[in-house]
Amino acid sequence: MKVGAYVSPKCVAMKEREMPVPAFGEALIKVSYAGICGTDMMIYHGLHPRAEAPLVLGHEFSGVVIDIDGDQHVQKGDQVVIEPLIHCGVCSACQQGQFQVCQKLRYIGIDQDGGFAEYVTIPIHRLRLLPASVTEKEGAMIEPLAVAVHTVRRSKLKVGDTVVILGAGPIGLLIGLIARQAGAGRIVISDVSSMRLEIAQKMGFEVIDARHTDVTHVIKKYTDGVGADVVFEVAGIQATADQMIECIKYQGEIVVVSVYKKAPTIQLSAMHFREISLTTTRCYTPSDFTKAIELLEQQKIQIDELVSHILPLEEIQTGFDLMENPDQALKILFKL
Ligand SMILES: NC(=O)c1ccc[n+]([C@@H]2O[C@H](COP(=O)([O-])OP(=O)(O)OC[C@H]3O[C@@H](n4cnc5c(N)ncnc54)[C@H](O)[C@@H]3O)[C@@H](O)[C@H]2O)c1
Ligand SMILES: [Zn+2]
Ligand SMILES: [Zn+2]
Repeated sequence: MKVGAYVSPKCVAMKEREMPVPAFGEALIKVSYAGICGTDMMIYHGLHPRAEAPLVLGHEFSGVVIDIDGDQHVQKGDQVVIEPLIHCGVCSACQQGQFQVCQKLRYIGIDQDGGFAEYVTIPIHRLRLLPASVTEKEGAMIEPLAVAVHTVRRSKLKVGDTVVILGAGPIGLLIGLIARQAGAGRIVISDVSSMRLEIAQKMGFEVIDARHTDVTHVIKKYTDGVGADVVFEVAGIQATADQMIECIKYQGEIVVVSVYKKAPTIQLSAMHFREISLTTTRCYTPSDFTKAIELLEQQKIQIDELVSHILPLEEIQTGFDLMENPDQALKILFKL
């Protein structure tokens, strides 16, 4: 079978592998769609602390059950999405049901082979049934959608709040959709990419081009000089780590979603004078994952606009090249 593997920094390739054979407790999945995410880019650049070549990448994917033992929550022929977190189950966080902060958290597609493959074996308890009304393409975006659900859930966002999202990447845009669903009032998104700003605008958000505009100045103007109620930092650079503090209201909440490639300096003194709260987020809980599936099933949100490319796995290198430039791609899916 064909797989898409990380070979060495800045090199990915399609390879031939033996068909995997499910062990006890696993199912054989024929992958349908799999998305490239920022974490895959980190691995691609050789910057991920754990991922090692020749890893089969891919932790955002949907598929069909080909082989499964016994009477399970999914059956042969079912469409599924994979919940890629593997928690230890025994650490203190796991004992509290907070699997996303498990002290030994591992991921399918990062710590073990993932979904850039025609077939993959997956522990049965990591399979989620895709309702009939959710497409396999949408299925491949449930994982990042669950990140957005978790992020908004962890925030103190109230109905009518003014929300600022710094960064219109897939995660920033999905947070925008979930914040809107949660009743946010004004939602303003900044970016430095014309293409991403255009998509954000099409999705109905107010946008700020941070290349030509002073973001803090605009937010202050929109809020009678007070600032936003909640700011989501989803760009992951020093400039936005500064802006998140400048454009927040007194006693407002900053939610840091970004995984910073370079540790930013945070102006804590500027925060304490205005009693600003800082919240961080990681992944999602099982119920966030369920919520993401339900939102799509009930057609409460539209995520198709995020897909900029659908490529065959043969074009894996092209996909990673495109992802290097935010003006060329947003969400790239491989169709297996
Ligand atoms: N907390 C979690 O569990 C979790 C999960 C997934 C991703 N992340 C992190 O969230 C962040 C966003 O993920 P993504 O996939 O959307 O990444 P992305 O790189 O596609 O998005 C970042 C966006 O920020 C924009 N940007 C750059 N400079 C900017 C500036 N000065 N002002 C405003 N925007 C600017 C980029 O153009 C890009 O569109 C990343 O840091 C990623 O690692 C966190
Ligand atoms: Zn991801
Ligand atoms: Zn654990």
